[in-house]
Order: sequence, then C-alpha cells, then structure tokens
Amino acid sequence: MTKKIEKLFVKTYGCQMNVFDSERIEESLETLGIKKVNKPQGSDLILLNTCHIREKAAEKVYSEIGRLKKIKSKNPGLKIGVVGCVAQAEGQEIMRRAEIVDMVLGPQVYHRLPEIIQRVQGGERVVDTDFPLEDKFEKLAQNKYQKRSVSSFLTVQEGCDKFCSFCVVPYTRGAEVSRSPEVVIKEAKELVASGVREITLLGQNVNAYAAKNSAGIKLDLADLIKEICVISELKRLRFITSHPKDMTRNLVDLFGEEEKLMPYLHLPIQSGSDQILKRMNRGHTVKSYIETINNLRKIRPDVAISGDFIVGFPGETEDDFSLTLDLLEKIKYAQAYSFKYSPRPGTPAYERDDLSEKVKSERLKRLQVKIQQHQKEFQENLIESVQEILVEKYGKFSDQFIGRSPYMNPVIINTKRNIIGNMEKVRIVSSSGLSLVGELIS
Ligand code: 5AD
Ligand code: SF4
Repeated sequence: MTKKIEKLFVKTYGCQMNVFDSERIEESLETLGIKKVNKPQGSDLILLNTCHIREKAAEKVYSEIGRLKKIKSKNPGLKIGVVGCVAQAEGQEIMRRAEIVDMVLGPQVYHRLPEIIQRVQGGERVVDTDFPLEDKFEKLAQNKYQKRSVSSFLTVQEGCDKFCSFCVVPYTRGAEVSRSPEVVIKEAKELVASGVREITLLGQNVNAYAAKNSAGIKLDLADLIKEICVISELKRLRFITSHPKDMTRNLVDLFGEEEKLMPYLHLPIQSGSDQILKRMNRGHTVKSYIETINNLRKIRPDVAISGDFIVGFPGETEDDFSLTLDLLEKIKYAQAYSFKYSPRPGTPAYERDDLSEKVKSERLKRLQVKIQQHQKEFQENLIESVQEILVEKYGKFSDQFIGRSPYMNPVIINTKRNIIGNMEKVRIVSSSGLSLVGELIS
C-alpha cells in the first residue's frame, strides 16, 4: 500500500508570481487534506517551485534534489516534484538526470495536481509541461492565505509575447494570457471582504492586460484598475511588472485620477543605450522611456520609479554602459534591481556572451553604487514629511510595527497600540539601510 500524502513542503525560488503560485498550490492541496509543513524532513510530498531567469538556476535545482536524496533514503514513501520555470524548460531531462523525482510540472498545470498526485502514488513518473487553455487559478482554491494579510498579490496576467533576446520567460511561462475581469474583480472583492487593504496586481507584463468581460467589452489594465478601485474598503492598489511599450497614456493619466493607485511604478528599461535596447529586442527607445516617465511626473511629481538593469549584455561597450549611468542620473530611481547578463539556453542572445566576468562585475558595482546613492537620497528626502503608512506586520522587537509608505519604503513604527491593518499618519524621522523610521502623529 502506498503511503497517504498528508504533509506537503514547498520550496519557492524566484519572483512574486512563483510565491503566488506556491500559495495557491498549498491551499488547493489543503482541501484534499494535505497540510503544508515548514521543513522537508517528515513530509510526504516535496515540491520545488523553480525559477529559470538567471544562470545556473537549473544546476541549483539539481543540487537541491541531490540534498533531498538523503531525506528520501530515510523516507522511501516520499514523493518529489519539480514545478515552475525550470520544470517547463527542462521537462523530461529532469526525470533522466534525477531518478528520485516523481513529477515535473510546468507553471500552467497546477490545477491538475490532485490527479497527478494520484498517478504518482500509483508508481507513475509524470511530466506535464502543457499550456492548457483553462485558467489554473479558477480551478485552484481561493486566496485564503493572502486573505489573512493586510497586503495581497493578485495575479491578473501571465506570460510574455515580447521576446527580449536575453529572456526565458516567453518560453517558460508561455504567451501573454489575461484572466477574466469578472473573476479578478470577484477575487479582489473577496480579498477586501476578508480584511485585505492593499492589492498588488501581478503579471509578467501586467500592463499588457487585455481581456473581454462577459458582455464582450474589452478591458485594458486602466479599465481593470478603475473597477477594482471602486471597492470601498480597499485603500491601495499597485501593479507590477510593466513594460515601457505598453505604458499607455490612459494608464499614465490614471495616476492623477485614482487616489488609491499608489505613486510607485516599476518600469524596467535594462539599458540606457539605444543600440543595446535594439539588440535586446525591447521595442522602445531611451527617449520614449524618458518621455513616459516625464509624463507621469507631470501628473504625479512625487512618483517613485523603480527599474531593472542588465550589465554586460553581449557587445555592450564602455560607451553603452556610460549611457546607462547617464540615464540613472536623469531618472534618479527610488529603487532598482541590477544583474549581470546571464546567457540563457534557447534565447537568441545565448551564443553571444562576449564580455568577461571581470568587466561585468566591475560595471555592476559601478551601477549599484549609483543606484544605492539615489535610493538613499530618495529615502532621505522623505525625512520630516508626514506620510500615510499602511501597517502590515509586527517588527523585530516588541511594540514595533512595520508598514509601507505610498512609495513602497518599509517604515518602522514603535508604539504600544496594535496598529496592524491601520492607515496611520506618520512623521518620518530617520532613514537607515532600506527602511525608514516613523513616529505616529496624534
Ligand atoms: N540575464 C540577466 N538578467 C536577466 N533578467 C532577465 N533575463 C536575464 C538574463 N538572461 C532580468 C531583467 C528582468 C528581470 C526580471 O531579470 O532585468 O527585468
Ligand atoms: Fe522577459 Fe522581456 Fe518579457 Fe520582461 S518583457 S518577461 S524581460 S521577454
């Protein structure tokens, strides 16, 4: 007799989309009596929800599987699954290389897990990397975990049709697919009814959102945001990640119209050189990007801009790189992520990795110094200002709470009163590292 699966351990790598997926998997299996546990030891099913965006991701997964061998040798009934983007990219290869893996599932088939688990318990090894038409989230359980929090993610769109020449996402997550507006709005209402006060709409290309409602009317992201902002108890709305090409005038204007839409925009450009942007197949120029941000700043002068950068893309000259540094000076990002170019098998840029590790590391360092300096300045500019802080959780110490400013900065507040879930008026008194410290007014 095969052992009944009662305890599930999920290890999540990578982006918020994976975090969201893992929680949905945990919840939906909970309805089958499978409880989530916090360590692999003693579990009956281990799922590795993997990320493929940068180098050696697949190798990391194989070493993790190697570590699991020991646990499996003590518990032969244990089932192991690899899910997420490495699963999608590697498929059958994982089964070939790692005998202890029982299932390999791409990101679009999680709703098939109950049936797949049964097959695995019957001794089968299952690979499923389909891109089915149905919405996996409609078939997975609802956002129960998120409902316990003040701020929640809500996936509205998945996949990408942009095919930037360095990126695996169009291959691992598939084509752009938007969820039905009615379903999204229903889920948003449920989240708010359960106490959620801030929703972040998630999508690989969230501002490419395009879906018809049941009356056949097409909605874009701006339309969807307007409908969600109507939910009265909802205090804040955000969306990530946007592509500069899909940053429509309507969406920019919305930052001046919807009070609940927070003044924060994550708008990756990757490089400040048009030549590189062209070779990255980004489909926009530095000028059009700056124009978008200038338009937004006319409407919301205080808006915090965040970005992503890649250094050492094939053929990037010192001149190209200094154009990226120039762009940083023009935009002054409130926050930004930066990475060394990492060749990804199967992408058009794969064969062309021509810059040394030394050059990449040195450019990354110079870029990060500037990013950190601007981030520090952004935070310090908030000192002495009064901000509305949505308080999300307890801090490290007793009588301490952590919330977020409209611009996403974590703000530490010391008080004896439990203020979780509240919008509090706070005077910012200092800035240290990545956070601010604030004092309650009144
Ligand atoms: N190498 C380095 N960084 C990458 N990113 C995506 N693909 C690669 C790659 N091959 C970065 C981009 C993207 C972020 C999510 O990850 O900056 O915006
Ligand atoms: Fe990747 Fe480009 Fe799509 Fe972003 S827009 S997910 S970087 S292909």
